[in-house]
Amino acid sequence: APSRQNFADRLEAALPPARLALLKLVAQRAHQRRLPVYVVGGFVRDLLLNRPSQDFDIVVEGDAIALARALEREFGGRVTSHSRFGTAKWHIAEIRVSLLKNALHLDESNANDLPEFLDLISARTEFYDYPTALPTVERSSIKLDLHRRDFTINTLALRLDGRHYGDLYDYWGGYADLQRGLIRVLHSLSFVDDPTRMLRAVRFEQRFGFQIEERTLQLMQEARDLLRQVSGDRLRHEIDLILAEENPLPALKRLDDLQLLTAIHPDLHWEPHLAEPMRKVLKDPLEPAWCLPETWGGTPIRRALAYLVWFLPFSTEKSLSLAQRLRLPHHLREGLKIGTSLVPTLKDLPNLTPSQVVARLDGVPLPVIYALYQLYYDTEVAAVLHTYATRWRHIHPVTDGHTLRTMGLTPGPSYRRILWTLRAAWLDGQVQSADQERALLEQLLASRTS
Ligand code: CTP
Repeated sequence: APSRQNFADRLEAALPPARLALLKLVAQRAHQRRLPVYVVGGFVRDLLLNRPSQDFDIVVEGDAIALARALEREFGGRVTSHSRFGTAKWHIAEIRVSLLKNALHLDESNANDLPEFLDLISARTEFYDYPTALPTVERSSIKLDLHRRDFTINTLALRLDGRHYGDLYDYWGGYADLQRGLIRVLHSLSFVDDPTRMLRAVRFEQRFGFQIEERTLQLMQEARDLLRQVSGDRLRHEIDLILAEENPLPALKRLDDLQLLTAIHPDLHWEPHLAEPMRKVLKDPLEPAWCLPETWGGTPIRRALAYLVWFLPFSTEKSLSLAQRLRLPHHLREGLKIGTSLVPTLKDLPNLTPSQVVARLDGVPLPVIYALYQLYYDTEVAAVLHTYATRWRHIHPVTDGHTLRTMGLTPGPSYRRILWTLRAAWLDGQVQSADQERALLEQLLASRTS
C-alpha cells in the first residue's frame, strides 16, 4: 500500500500565493466533479528535496480536457487540447482576470504571479510498440500513470482534492530513494523502452549528487548499445539539457566513463582538458568586449559555444560526422567546418601582420573565434584572436563605396580591392589619419589611371 504522508505544509510554503490559490481552485472544481487530481513528477521530487520549483503540471484521474473546459466556461481564458493524449492547456493570461482574481481572493500585485497557462493531463499509460518508438497512449489510473515514468524519484504524486489535500502517493519507494540518494528504474525494460533515459539517469545523478543504483547501472550497461538506434534529434535534446545544467561537467565525464558517449558515436568522448574552456563558455560571463550575440542561428550562444569547444579539436571530417550524428543546427555545422580547417593554421597567427590576420579571420563566425580563444587560452594564439575580435575586426577606412562613386570611379570589383588596401594600411599602421588615408587613396587612383 502506498504511504500516506502529508506534505500540505511544504506545498503551502513553496508556492507563491497566486499559484497556490490557482492550484486550490482547480483542486476544488475537480473535487466537485469527483475527480482525483495530483501534482506529480519533478515538481514533487524537488519539493521533497527542499529545492522547490514553481512549475507544475496537474494530473487528473479522469478527463482532464473536460475539467479544463469547465474552468474555461466558468472563468474564461482559452483551452487548447490534444484528445489523443488527453491533455489540455488552459491559457489564463487571456482570462477575464477579474473573475479569477475574485475567486482566488488576489490583489493586483499577487495576480502578476499567475502563470501564463496551466497544463492539465489525464492520467495515462503508454505502450511502446517496439524499442525506441514513440509510445501509444491510453487513459488510466494515477498508479499506472506513475508507473510509466523513468525513475522512482520521479514517480511521486501529491493529491490535491478534498480531504486528500497534501497526501503523498508513493507506489514505488520514490521517497525512500530520494532520502537515500538513489536513481533507480522501476522495471528492467525501462532503458529498452526509452534509451534516452540513460542520459537522464546521469543528469539527475549529477544534479542531485545521487548515485545510480547498482541494478540500474547494470541495466544501463546492458542497454547501452541501444543508443545507436536513437535519433540525433532526441540525443541532441538530452545533451542540450545536460549542457543547461548548473554544472554539466561531471555529467559529461560520467557519460564518458559509462561509455555512453561512444555508444552514441564512436568518436564522441569527453576530454578532461575541455573542462576549463567548457566552464568558461557555459558559466563565466562572456567577455563583453567581444560583443557576442545572444543567439547564433537560433541556438542560445552558450550552448553553441559549448558544442564548438567540444568538437573543434577534432579533424574536420570527425567533427562533421559528430555534428551529423547529433543533427546540430546548420550554423554550428558550418562553424565547425570553417573552424576545424582553421585550426592547423592557427599557430602561424602570431607571426602575421594585422592585415594578414584579418584576411584569414574575416568570414570566420565570431562564436567560432571565441571558442578557439578559450581553447587556446593564455597562449600567443589566443592573444591574437582576442585583438582581432576586440579591435582589428572593427577597423575600417573612412572611405566607402559611396566615396569612390562620388570620386567618379565606376562601380566594380576594383572597389573591393581599393577598400581592402586602405583597410590593410590602417591595420598595419601605414595610415593613421583621414588625411593620410586620403593621400593613399589618391595615390592608388593615380597609379590606376597612369
Ligand atoms: N519522463 C520519462 N522518460 C523520459 C522523459 C520523461 O519517464 N524519457 C517522465 C519523468 O518521470 C518526468 C516526467 O516524464 O517526471 C516529465 O519529464 P521532464 O519534464 O523532463 O521532467 P522533470 O523531472 O521535471 O525534469 P527537470 O527537473 O529536468 O525539468
